Amino acid sequence: MIYTIGGIKGGSGKTTIATNLAIWLAQKGSDVLLVDADEQETATDFSAWREQNVGDEMGYTSIKLTGESVRTQVTKLKAKYEHIVIDTGGRDTTSQRAALVISDYYLVPFNPRSFDIWTVYKVQNLVGEIRAVKASPLNVYTFLNRADPRGADNDEAAEILMQCEGMNYVPNPLGNRKAFSHAAGKGLGIVELNPPDEKASTELNNLFTYIFSNSIN
Ligand SMILES: Nc1ncnc2c1ncn2[C@@H]1O[C@H](COP(=O)(O)OP(=O)(O)O)[C@@H](O)[C@H]1O
Ligand SMILES: [Mg+2]
Repeated sequence: MIYTIGGIKGGSGKTTIATNLAIWLAQKGSDVLLVDADEQETATDFSAWREQNVGDEMGYTSIKLTGESVRTQVTKLKAKYEHIVIDTGGRDTTSQRAALVISDYYLVPFNPRSFDIWTVYKVQNLVGEIRAVKASPLNVYTFLNRADPRGADNDEAAEILMQCEGMNYVPNPLGNRKAFSHAAGKGLGIVELNPPDEKASTELNNLFTYIFSNSIN
């Protein structure tokens, strides 16, 4: 399976989700490749830091690709890995389109803020264009990241995402939790924190389990 984490907004949590998904999948004993398709290279920096901290326990292989190479190289590598996670930048780039053309899943996080939520229509158009040229299905999932502990903003944002045709809204938000940057600072995934952050790992588990319950054991 190939998963692209993307969208048309910086800072929505793409790299956080991509690295945590790679680690989550690796923990299940799978061969995982993490592809950094963002020129900011945050996923690559994280992986280098992770390797320094955990060494052989990395759990996944990390590479960096840009432009059309995302499609051509990942297609060549596809048979070697059970799961390939592609982290993209927050713009409509050749890299993101190249990733989507070969992906089975497209995961798009949104912060529950107006400027972020408004980008969903651009994402919807992008998905439409990709589906028009893609032979196999693209399963699209939207969800809230850095959700507020309470207040109307989550509900208003969720309402908009829910109404977007062709994209599935996942009702399992990730809260705004310090544990995410804390874990990243140690080169770890949320599920590896010790002592654990139960709330954050439960939210992450619920999110991924909801999306992949039918395809990953
Ligand atoms: N659920 C969360 N709770 C708290 N901070 C978060 C959460 N998700 C992401 N962050 C923080 O938000 C910032 C942007 O996240 P990042 O994953 O780099 O976004 P992107 O890759 O979309 O630009 C980082 O500092 C990250 O640690
Ligand atoms: Mg990023």
